[in-house]
Amino acid sequence: MKIPDITIAVDGFSSTGKSTLARLIAQRFDFLYLDSGAMYRGVTLFAQEQGLISPDNVIDPALEAALEGLDLHFAQGTVLYMGERNIEKQIRSMEVSAQVSPIAAVPYVRRYVDRRLHEFSAAGRVVMDGRDIGTTVFPNAEIKVFMTARPEVRAQRRFDELAGKGENPVFEEVLKNLEERDYIDSHRETSPLRRAEDAFVLDNSEMGLTDEVAWAEGLIRGKFLLLDAPDAPAND
Ligand code: CDP
Repeated sequence: MKIPDITIAVDGFSSTGKSTLARLIAQRFDFLYLDSGAMYRGVTLFAQEQGLISPDNVIDPALEAALEGLDLHFAQGTVLYMGERNIEKQIRSMEVSAQVSPIAAVPYVRRYVDRRLHEFSAAGRVVMDGRDIGTTVFPNAEIKVFMTARPEVRAQRRFDELAGKGENPVFEEVLKNLEERDYIDSHRETSPLRRAEDAFVLDNSEMGLTDEVAWAEGLIRGKFLLLDAPDAPAND
């Protein structure tokens, strides 16, 4: 049974597992998965490497013109490249996490990323995760999910992820970074993080991945009344 070519938006707070859920939905229903946060992380790495952001987050206005020459794209599915260079590992570092929210608050950066996201998803049948997908990037998405979880649970997940990658995270720093990003993301002027009115809320503080996927699948199938009908009437 095939789900039609729709757009699915998965938004929410940092480290709520948006990308994990979005990836699984994409696999399950054969959608293209796009991670919008990776794009903001890519722009941040670029600004850092070009010396266009200071340690205390002052952004050089020259970044706007520099973005015109920046080639960020996904290859091998969901791996982010800057030109020829695979930057997947670097964009997930604490250094990039520490400066990504100020960068993502800049209107011309958001315009750059939005334009690229629309190009990448031109063929349709997309599940995209981020902060403003259901409100700004794809306000007409047919399915919108808004994810949240308690900050300590989220920090523990991010801590485990970083430790698993061989980084040396400090729990309090990870928690502080999440809370700072949540604050900046929710309070910025351009496309702040907020739940779209028609988004379904998923709080996964006490939930495992299997249940989350079942929840999302129910939502998607239910929306299109695609629940499997029984093959034959039951014998009694
Ligand atoms: O993985 P995590 O949820 O921690 O963050 P991410 O999705 O990789 O996004 C990193 C940062 O990019 C966020 O904290 C936001 O500041 C910004 N972002 C945004 O402003 N809008 C989006 N659609 C996606 C990310």
